[in-house]
Amino acid sequence: MTQSETDIAALTQDTARDELARLATVLADANAAYHTEDAPRISDAEYDRLKRRNAAIEQAFPDLKRDDSPSDVVGAAPAEGFGKVAHEVRMLSLGNAFDDADVAEFDARIRRFLGLEAGADLTYTAEPKIDGLSLSVRYEGGQLVRAATRGDGETGEDVTTNARTISDIPETVPNAPDVLEVRGEVYMAHADFAALNDRQAAEGSKVFANPRNAAAGSLRQLDASITAARPLRFFAYAWGSLSEPLADTQHAALGRLADMGFSTNPETALCEGPEDMLATYRAIAARRAELGYDIDGVVYKVNDLGLQGRLGFRSTTPRWAIAHKFPAETAWTRLSGIDVQVGRTGALSPVARLDPVTVGGVVVSNATLHNEDYIAGRDAKGHPIRNGIDLRVGDRVEIYRAGDVIPKVRDVDLSARPEGTTPFEMPHRCPDCDSPALREPGESVRRCTGGLVCPAQRVARLKHLVGRSALDIDGLGDKEIERFHDLGWIHAPVDIFRLQARYGTGLQTVANLEGWGETSATNLFDAIEAARTQPLARVLFGLGIRHLGEVAGRDLARHFGSWDALAATVDAAIPAASCHRAAAEAELAERTKAEDEGRRARLSDARALAWAPVEAPARAAWDDLVGIDGIGATLALALCDALSAPQERAAIDDLFAALTIEAPEPTAEESPVAGKTVVFTGSLEKMTRAEAKATAESLGAKVSGSVSSKTDILVAGPGAGSKAAKAAQLGIETLDEDAWLALIGNA
Ligand code: IVH
Repeated sequence: MTQSETDIAALTQDTARDELARLATVLADANAAYHTEDAPRISDAEYDRLKRRNAAIEQAFPDLKRDDSPSDVVGAAPAEGFGKVAHEVRMLSLGNAFDDADVAEFDARIRRFLGLEAGADLTYTAEPKIDGLSLSVRYEGGQLVRAATRGDGETGEDVTTNARTISDIPETVPNAPDVLEVRGEVYMAHADFAALNDRQAAEGSKVFANPRNAAAGSLRQLDASITAARPLRFFAYAWGSLSEPLADTQHAALGRLADMGFSTNPETALCEGPEDMLATYRAIAARRAELGYDIDGVVYKVNDLGLQGRLGFRSTTPRWAIAHKFPAETAWTRLSGIDVQVGRTGALSPVARLDPVTVGGVVVSNATLHNEDYIAGRDAKGHPIRNGIDLRVGDRVEIYRAGDVIPKVRDVDLSARPEGTTPFEMPHRCPDCDSPALREPGESVRRCTGGLVCPAQRVARLKHLVGRSALDIDGLGDKEIERFHDLGWIHAPVDIFRLQARYGTGLQTVANLEGWGETSATNLFDAIEAARTQPLARVLFGLGIRHLGEVAGRDLARHFGSWDALAATVDAAIPAASCHRAAAEAELAERTKAEDEGRRARLSDARALAWAPVEAPARAAWDDLVGIDGIGATLALALCDALSAPQERAAIDDLFAALTIEAPEPTAEESPVAGKTVVFTGSLEKMTRAEAKATAESLGAKVSGSVSSKTDILVAGPGAGSKAAKAAQLGIETLDEDAWLALIGNA
C-alpha cells in the first residue's frame, strides 16, 4: 500500500467527508488560478496528485461524492474551465461551393458587387482547407500574449497556455506590428494521429475518431501538460487585429507571416479567375493523399486586400472568400427505422435510424430524410429522385456526408429490399401532442398545428432561445432545457428568468438536483442574470419566429430600435396581413386559369378587392414593414401571425418585460448616417447597388427600397424617376452619389 492509500484506509465517514470538502475547495481554487487568472498556485504534479487522492476517497466512500466533485469538473465539462476571450475582430466561417458552377457564381457575384467587367483582371489565392480547428494568436510588441479558439466567433476560449506548447506557434516574433493577431488552423498530421491512437489504446484511454477530433481534444485540455504531449501543428492563413497592415495582397501577407516564423501552406497558389481556380482545386485534390494531413477542400480568397475591404462581410461569412469542398464520402448500411421529430416551427422531420456505419472516419447512425416527398422518391416539384424509388424500413441505403453537415441518404438498393416491406406514411397527427399535422398547398413540409401547446415545439424553441446566436446562456444548453422543461420548471421563455426566484431556495432547488450542487446552481443563476441584458437583434432572432433569421433580426433591430416600436408597427399591420394573403390567393387562383386578354385586368381587380377592407394606417404599417430592405412579405406575414396569436404574444411580451435591451452598437452611432433611413435610386457610378447598401448598413443606416415619410436621405444617381419625385414632394434630403460619399467620408 502507498502512503496515501494507508491514509485513506484510516479515514472515517466524517473525516472522509471533511477531506472531500477540503479537496473540492483547494482544486476549485487551483483551477481558477490556472485558467482564469493565468497564475497557477500549485504545480501540475501537485494538482494531479490531489485529483487522484480525491478520486480514491470517492471510490472508498461512494455515498460521500459531492455534487460539485472535482472529478466531474475537469473531465466532464472542460469548456466551463476556460477563461473567455472577446475577439476584437470576429472570427468568421466560410461560405461553401460544392461544384464548378458554384465557383463560377462566386466569381460572378464578386464582379457584380464590385461592378467589374467580365474580362477585367481579378486574382485569387487558392489554398488547402485544413481540417482542424481555428485558433487566433495575439502578439503584443512581438510577444505571444493570448491564444483563443473561435468559440461562437465573437467570444472564444482562452487556450494560451496550451497554444504555447505548439512548436509551430512562435513565442516571439521579430519585426511584428505592435499588435498582431495571427489566425490559422491547429491540426494533427496522419502519422502523429496514428501513433497517438496506438498510445491511447495501449493505455486503455480514449481513442479518437479522426485527426480533427484528436486536435480539438488535445488543444482544449484544462491540463496543458497533456496538450504538450500531443503532436499538434499550426498553419497560419489569416489575421485579426493589426496595428498596421501586413501587405497589400493576401499572398504577400502570407509571405510576411512566413518571414515572421509561421508555417504557411506550401500548396498556396495564385489564380487568375475561375478556370485557374478549378485547375488548382483539381491539382490539390490529386495530391490530397500525399499531404500527410486532412484537408476537406480548397479555400479561394480575393488577393487584393483593398478589394477584400470593399467586399466586406455578410452576417457570418466574408464575401471575398469561399471554401470549395471535396465531394462527400459515402457508405452503405441498413435503414433500421424512420422516426419523426417535431422542430421549433412545428415541422415534422423524418429521421433515418441506421445500423451504425463509418462514413469518412465518423460513425453515423442517424441521417436526415428531409420530408415525406423525399422518402417517396419525389423532389419539391414532383419530379422523380432515385428513379422514383421510395425508402422503406429494412432497405439497404447509401449514406453520404460532406464536412460537418448532417449525413444524408442518397440512394437505395432495390435489389436488396427484403420481403414484406411497406411504404412509409407520414403521420397526420403530431407524434408529440397529437394535434393535427397539416401540409399547406405548395409546401413540402407537414407541420404540427399545436404551437406552444406542443411540448416538442416548446422545448425546441426554448433551446433555440438560449442558443449561442440568441441569449447564449452559459450552462443552460439543450440537456438542461429538457430537464427543466420535464420538471415543469421552465415552460415559457420568461420562466428562465424566474428560475432563481422559484428554485433558488426552498424545498425544490436547482442545487439539489442530481448532478448539480450549490456552485453549479449559482453559476447558472449568475449566467441567467448576465443574459438579462441583450441587444434587440439577438432577442428577435431568439424568438424563433419562422423566417426570422439572424440577418433579419439585425435588420429589424436596426430599423425599429425597440421591441415596442416593432410591435406597434406589426400590430398596426395585422389587418393588412390577411388582405395580403387573400390577394395572393386570388392571384394564384387566377394564374391557374388560362391566360387570356382579360387576365391582367382581373388580376388587378382581384388585388384591389382583397385590399379594399384595409384601412390606410394598416396599409401604411404593412408598407413600412415590407419596405425595409431584406424584409419581405413572407417574414411580415410570419410576424403578424406570431403577434396576433394570443398565447405566443403573451409569451413574447412577458419575455421582453424581463429583459433589458442594450443600446445599439456605439461604433455605428458615431457615423453621420447611423439610424438614418436611406434609399438608393437611379444608377450609381462609383459603386454597385449591393456595395452601396452594404457600406450604408455597416455605418448603421437602414436601407429601404421605397421612399416614405420615414426616409431621411435619398441618394439619386442619373435616371432617378418616381422615387426622386416622391422625395421632392415630401421634402426629403436628396444627394447625388458624390455628396453621399462625401457625407460618409469616403469621397
Ligand atoms: S480563411 C474570414 N483559410 O475553415 C475567413 N479558413 O469553414 C477566415 N479553414 O473557420 C477563414 N483552412 O477554421 C481559411 N486556408 C484556410 C482554411 C480555413 C481551414 C477553416 C477555418 C474556418 C473554417 C470555415
